[in-house]
Amino acid sequence: MAAADDVAPPTASAYLHPTYWDERFGKEEHYEWFKDFSHFRHLLAPLLSPSLSVLEVGCGNSRLGEELLREGVAGGITCVDLSPVAVQRMRDRLVEQGTHGVEVVVADMLDLPFEHESFDLVIEKGTMDVLFVDSGDPWNPNPTTVDNVMKMLEGIHRVLKPEGVFISITFGQPHFRRRFFEAPGFTWSVEYSTFGDGFHYFFYTLKKGKRSLESNSYQNVLPAAPKVNMFHEELESEDYIFRTNVEEL
Ligand SMILES: C[S@@+](CC[C@H](N)C(=O)[O-])C[C@H]1O[C@@H](n2cnc3c(N)ncnc32)[C@H](O)[C@@H]1O
Repeated sequence: MAAADDVAPPTASAYLHPTYWDERFGKEEHYEWFKDFSHFRHLLAPLLSPSLSVLEVGCGNSRLGEELLREGVAGGITCVDLSPVAVQRMRDRLVEQGTHGVEVVVADMLDLPFEHESFDLVIEKGTMDVLFVDSGDPWNPNPTTVDNVMKMLEGIHRVLKPEGVFISITFGQPHFRRRFFEAPGFTWSVEYSTFGDGFHYFFYTLKKGKRSLESNSYQNVLPAAPKVNMFHEELESEDYIFRTNVEEL
């Protein structure tokens, strides 16, 4: 999905400022970072059930919340974003559509305003990646990045129910993510799959309460190294700009 024509390509550090997102969401109707739901439905749908309560972190102007509702999730869907503009526009969209069952809230993912053990499922797509912008050496990210990523993950772990599941959809490769996901104190097991034709995106599944000593290594790893076959349009896409800004290639 294309960004609005009048949205200029951002500089790397712009992604870290709420004003960038407010300005962008003021002009742009819809942009799905990485891929839309149809590309990872086969991975997510088996984890869904009608009674789930879901939190989406950093919803932007993605349609993921509505897709979850269409999939039959009826235990409550809460979408949060730091940008008040994104939140207001999503609320307006839901009202216009007559969609009920999705609540949209301004919130900082580094300080989630929810009770402990509130959600069965927490999902983020491209949101944690924002914290890695300007992180320096990807093998040894700067202390601010490490602090923020840990704050985000601790908050998500806290608001998940005892057997809740966290889904992270990202281009962050396992060797850069494992030190965070497998930090001491987290009780979730960690598995991942990949999807995508050109770029490979990672779909991490973290199941709270399922960590064992043996689970300190990734499971469900595909045997072959991901095939990187970038199509021309992907090289020109904002995802590519974002990836290179995050310096994880
Ligand atoms: C790369 S976009 C992804 C948007 C959406 N998840 C998607 O897949 O299209 C990152 C989103 O994270 C939001 N964001 C950035 N920092 C945040 C924070 N501290 N707390 C909550 N949301 C944040 C931005 O406003 C933006 O909507």
